[in-house]
Amino acid sequence: MTLLLEARNISKVFTSGGFTQQQRTLAVDRVTLNLSSGTGNIIALAGESGSGKTTLGRMLLGLESPTQGEIAYRGNNIAKLGRRDRKIFRREVQAIFQDPFAVYNPFYKIDHVFNVAIGKYKLASSKDEARHLVEQAIQAVGLRPEETLGRFPHQLSGGQRQRIIVARVFLLKPKIVIADEPVSMVDASLRATILEALRELHKTSEMSILYITHDLNTAYQVADNIMIMYRGNIVEAGDVEQVINQPEHPYTQLLVKSIPPPDPAKKWINLSSMATPPFRGTTIGQGMCKFVDRCSMAVEECKTSDLPFYRTSDKRITRCLLYGESSPVPSDAVLDY
Ligand SMILES: Nc1ncnc2c1ncn2[C@@H]1O[C@H](COP(=O)(O)OP(=O)(O)OP(=O)(O)O)[C@@H](O)[C@H]1O
Ligand SMILES: [Mg+2]
Repeated sequence: MTLLLEARNISKVFTSGGFTQQQRTLAVDRVTLNLSSGTGNIIALAGESGSGKTTLGRMLLGLESPTQGEIAYRGNNIAKLGRRDRKIFRREVQAIFQDPFAVYNPFYKIDHVFNVAIGKYKLASSKDEARHLVEQAIQAVGLRPEETLGRFPHQLSGGQRQRIIVARVFLLKPKIVIADEPVSMVDASLRATILEALRELHKTSEMSILYITHDLNTAYQVADNIMIMYRGNIVEAGDVEQVINQPEHPYTQLLVKSIPPPDPAKKWINLSSMATPPFRGTTIGQGMCKFVDRCSMAVEECKTSDLPFYRTSDKRITRCLLYGESSPVPSDAVLDY
């Protein structure tokens, strides 16, 4: 097991609006997280719309820089990587986004996506070998090469386009994949196929996958561990079965217990229909529990103390004073996957 990607106490404040009406949004508030290789882990990051999931994912990919804290890859701050190390980081940490169409250049055939990857990272020494690798990757996600290669992006369905992106990831064999709502634009019947392809991928190549979603149902299906995010903070994390079946944080309890899903075949409601007003104008590290105004268990201390995580069992941590009897987790050990 090698420690690869570390978020070291990272926060992100967005400033938007004009001179007169500037708004500050604390999108991510002091998240510390370690992702290792060789653990073969799928970690779900779940929370309502606006809780900061995408911002955290983009920072981990190096697409957004933290306002405070740093991201390190193989021990080095990614903002300061040299050319060679940056290339390694780019190859080993891959993204799958919600809208696959945005990734494609409409003027190039699907093959281009693979050819660029093969050329850039010198994955094959001959054309035949390249062709073989591409076909293998396409088949791995349940598609047929003859039905996809040679076509333009608009000639494929949304689900096929998304699976091609998963196939590209398969070809590159990264150590870590950050998948931000990879199936939310795909219809229900294809969702399972794509998630299955991701699971297969992670089983065969031991990559760790951070699966960002607001759908607890798919999180429960595919993930081993889950982190629950609320207004920029991770509030609870641990084994997915334990967290969902016996939620500890009052917010997680609210998510999984009190809301009956509209579709009886599903157990939990899709969190995209729930949105919390963003956390504005605050300074990083203010320390209060951000759920305090909605929590029936809240006490005065929840507003003033800088809450640590408490380790409530072997595989779980919860950021709530209700568990103050349990042992606090030192911040550098938080969320080790
Ligand atoms: N570029 C930006 N400029 C200003 N505010 C932003 C920017 N990007 C995100 N935000 C704000 O930061 C907060 C977190 O946004 P983020 O996209 O990370 O949430 P999310 O959990 O991914 O939500 P969703 O489930 O809807 O995708 C939101 O309040 C959002 O409005
Ligand atoms: Mg998002």
